[in-house]
Amino acid sequence: MEKIIGLGAEALLLRKDGRLIKKRIRKGYRYHELDEKLRKTRTRKEAKLLEKASRLVNVPKIIKSDDETKEIVMDFINGKKLSEALDSFSLEEAKKLCMQIGSSAAKLHDANIIHGDLTTSNMILQEGKIFFIDFGLGFESSKIEDKAVDLHLFRQAFESRHFGKWEDYFNSAIEGYKISKNADAVLKQIAKVESRGRYKGKH
Ligand SMILES: Nc1ncnc2c1ncn2[C@@H]1O[C@H](COP(=O)(O)OP(=O)(O)O)[C@@H](O)[C@H]1O
Ligand SMILES: [Mg+2]
Repeated sequence: MEKIIGLGAEALLLRKDGRLIKKRIRKGYRYHELDEKLRKTRTRKEAKLLEKASRLVNVPKIIKSDDETKEIVMDFINGKKLSEALDSFSLEEAKKLCMQIGSSAAKLHDANIIHGDLTTSNMILQEGKIFFIDFGLGFESSKIEDKAVDLHLFRQAFESRHFGKWEDYFNSAIEGYKISKNADAVLKQIAKVESRGRYKGKH
């Protein structure tokens, strides 16, 4: 039996027999051919990134992806969204999970995978392991700047979702990130990205 579990801006999420189907749906306001093309390339891109990431971190295993139907079929991860679970742990436990996030992000970045939407809503906790999902905004890049922006957006998402604890969380994630071969350069760049953000806010 199929069960709808979500309808995002881009995709319909269905659960069926232990599988998760992510189906990119038509956007009525887009010109038909452009819409077709976008959904096709985004489906293909997300599947490719998931496949590549699966060699480095925990992600749902892809069963199949189909550009024509714009569907990706993957394992359903039976766990809790980290955005909901994280604050129910003790600070020490939560910080350990954040370290795990940081080192997973480092592994992705070292393979030039930019997730594009690193937030605890795009992570599922299953038996102590964090699964990364939703590579829909992801891309490949070796640029330090792109990696720094990825972490900066993550920090902002933390800040708005985990009020009061996000600084401890983020610092732990940074600790975990230090396994990256480019950690120093990326962390330095985050400071620049941030000051740019503040400047923009003021003017
Ligand atoms: N493989 C999966 N296993 C379990 N739940 C999933 C899986 N993929 C997505 N979900 C659920 O569906 C939601 C939306 O999926 P996501 O890929 O993040 O799409 P969107 O682009 O709409 O954010 C997730 O927040 C999560 O709750
Ligand atoms: Mg998502």
